[in-house]
Amino acid sequence: MSTNGTVAILPGDGIGPEVIEQGVRIIEHLNQHSGAGLVCERAPVGGAAYDLHGHPLPAATLALAKRADAILLGAVGGKKWESLPRELRPEQALLSLRSELNLFANLRPAILFPELVAASTLKPEVVSGLDLMIVRELTGGIYFGQPRGIRTEADGTRTGYNTMVYNETEIRRIAESAFQIARLRNRRLCSVEKANVLEVSELWREIVTDVGRSYPDVELSHMYVDNASMQLIKAPKQFDVIVTSNLFGDILSDAASMLTGSIGMLPSASLDAKQKGMYEPVHGSAPDIAGRNIANPLATILSVAMMFRSTFGRNDLAQRVEHAVRQALAQGYRTGDIATASQPTIGTREMGDAVLAAL
Ligand code: IPM
Ligand code: MG
Repeated sequence: MSTNGTVAILPGDGIGPEVIEQGVRIIEHLNQHSGAGLVCERAPVGGAAYDLHGHPLPAATLALAKRADAILLGAVGGKKWESLPRELRPEQALLSLRSELNLFANLRPAILFPELVAASTLKPEVVSGLDLMIVRELTGGIYFGQPRGIRTEADGTRTGYNTMVYNETEIRRIAESAFQIARLRNRRLCSVEKANVLEVSELWREIVTDVGRSYPDVELSHMYVDNASMQLIKAPKQFDVIVTSNLFGDILSDAASMLTGSIGMLPSASLDAKQKGMYEPVHGSAPDIAGRNIANPLATILSVAMMFRSTFGRNDLAQRVEHAVRQALAQGYRTGDIATASQPTIGTREMGDAVLAAL
């Protein structure tokens, strides 16, 4: 087998290892039968890494992530590690990976598979045919802005503070990514911010508008984030591509996920300027259902598809994986999160089996 690349496999915590296992089976299948040629190397991350090595992102894990062409990550976090100092908490591993690897463009598609229309809490006519892409800036904004902290004032009261900050370069590069993505889709881009209140958003709007001058074929609109959150629930199909900052994207992408019936269906890609990427399901570690073989592995499997497309330039394999997922759904296979009351459900591994069979 010729090697086309290395994938760092970081299972993480909670349901992470279970869903990642199904993603790895897909990669191995495509290695065997379609010459994908990917070498998978594993390393611990998050709480699991803290338990083993005393740090959520051990040096060896970071080194592997840097060396690899792509990273497939499960999920991190859990009650067990919540009281650790902030810098040792599992989530810190995610944030460090994003910033150390410069993964500034976070792609979060929200697609409603026709088979799952009934799983959405919204009316079928509102969501059927939904296909939107949220492009979230991932290495800047209030998540990383300085100064930040909790200080004690002279009178003894404590003040918590964070800084929402973007420079022109950061805005320009995420806008470029979003316009390019819009070009490959329906050529409509909505930039979401809060320019009626925040200076950082005022600059955001100005720069996005300026970048837009180089993309006359893409229709650009602007929307305040409060309105965008309402429009997402009211009429989500008005959107094609949304570009927004780190914090707003975090919030809007969770809202968008529910349009599709389950957060268990949503993949994501976090890309640097050279299409190196970290791929992860949008859902979290769900400790309450971990180890029970009931988690939905489809978000991870769809993340593998995104990896083939964006990092390895194998749109053919990406489409085959996505098609296999659709086929498994069409055949009626459902994990609990996407089943209606009357539908029988299957487990994590069995859903992996169903997708592999369809492949
Ligand atoms: C996400 C998550 C993370 C974020 C957390 C776990 C740090 O919510 O990827 O959306 O806030 O970015
Ligand atoms: Mg989030």
